[in-house]
Amino acid sequence: MATRGHWGSNAGFILAAVGGAVGLGNLWGFAYSASQGGGAAFVVLYLLFVFFIGLPVLTAELVIGRHTGKSPVEAMLAVGGRRWKWLGFVFVIAGFGILSFYSVIMGWTGRLLVEFLRGTVPIDTAAHFGAISEGPGAIVAHLIGMLITVFVIIGGVQKGIERVSVVLMPVLFLLIAALAVWAATLSGAGPGYAFYLRPDLSQVFHTKTITGAAGQAFFSLSLGMGAMITYASYLSGRGNLAAQAGIIALSDTVVAFVGGLVTFPIIYHFGLQAEVSDSAIGALFIAVPRGFLSLGGGGQVVGVVFFLALYIAALTSGISLLEVVASALIDSLGWTRERAGWVAGGAIALGGIPGALSSDWVGFLFQLFGQVFLVFGGVMLALLVGYVWTAQARAELLKGFPSPALAEGWIWLLRTFVPVMLAITLFFAVLALGPVVSALLS
Ligand code: PHE
Repeated sequence: MATRGHWGSNAGFILAAVGGAVGLGNLWGFAYSASQGGGAAFVVLYLLFVFFIGLPVLTAELVIGRHTGKSPVEAMLAVGGRRWKWLGFVFVIAGFGILSFYSVIMGWTGRLLVEFLRGTVPIDTAAHFGAISEGPGAIVAHLIGMLITVFVIIGGVQKGIERVSVVLMPVLFLLIAALAVWAATLSGAGPGYAFYLRPDLSQVFHTKTITGAAGQAFFSLSLGMGAMITYASYLSGRGNLAAQAGIIALSDTVVAFVGGLVTFPIIYHFGLQAEVSDSAIGALFIAVPRGFLSLGGGGQVVGVVFFLALYIAALTSGISLLEVVASALIDSLGWTRERAGWVAGGAIALGGIPGALSSDWVGFLFQLFGQVFLVFGGVMLALLVGYVWTAQARAELLKGFPSPALAEGWIWLLRTFVPVMLAITLFFAVLALGPVVSALLS
């Protein structure tokens, strides 16, 4: 069997993992949930969840990945024995399911990027989005996204994923920072910030807001489906995994927060509030482009920067999703990376076609795989590390982490708060499938 890939440097690993985490979910999902769920109060709640749920699970994934040096299915077998191997398959199915809708949204993003470049976005952005989001054009855009993703994967861990992440992530940070500075100059900036961050405690104590924040944090950090296990399996040595998890979680959260500082000034400046409350997707692909168009030539430049940032964010997340599926084929079936990349990518390209024909299907896949599957995976991982594979996990963490007391705190969270909160979140995520399914059937 071919030798496994590995990262060229710790920084390369961290940039790749941040690239996997920072995605479409950050640039819109977070700000949207915050605006609907109590502004600054939501932000505080979200930070608590990132710290007390996201960080422990992320650390658990990194510990499993580095210790086993295996892709999710084999890693679950190595850590939990035969009785846990199925969980690895659940991860692979989640990766398949998420990428099959994610790549469709990535396609919409790419389409708007090209149209802003060429200056051909029509004034009626709502009708335009309706036309490009479903049908042959959406299929082509989805396939192009999958093709780029496959090319990166088959390039290898170091020469493909790491090289792309090391170049694209700094570019992404610069683009987002530039957008935030530009947005601050808009006359709508003040009211936009005020709305985004208005501390409204009455919203925060709703079960929906609370479980929504937990679900959003999980999706945003790419947890519960083995993406972080897979990336950490290419690590060696004795680095401080808790610190690395902290850097990844912090970067992801900062980008999500700054994303809101970009979008809300735009919405208020151009008076797009009504369209935004309809749906997150509508805001991103209909309201924001309309705002840019009203600025003329300057708006075209901003449109290019905005959709380029979005595309980069989506691409690096897509790469981490495909890597979960491909690495399972490489490790479990002994396939070459080329073969695994093309077969997995090809299958997901086909599996994504229904989403390119119906955006209700995209919504359904997000709720099923992006919420239910991930949160379920998180519950299982917490129980596995908290109760079954605890001693080895502790020892692996302590290799690079000098505090036994904090390690105990980590295990305590994985035994108690994390699975309980995630089980409640799971319950509401399953309930939320109802409306999505009826939208699909209507
Ligand atoms: N974290 C990504 C985002 O915020 C989505 C994702 C989920 C990517 C799970 C990989 C695995 O858009």
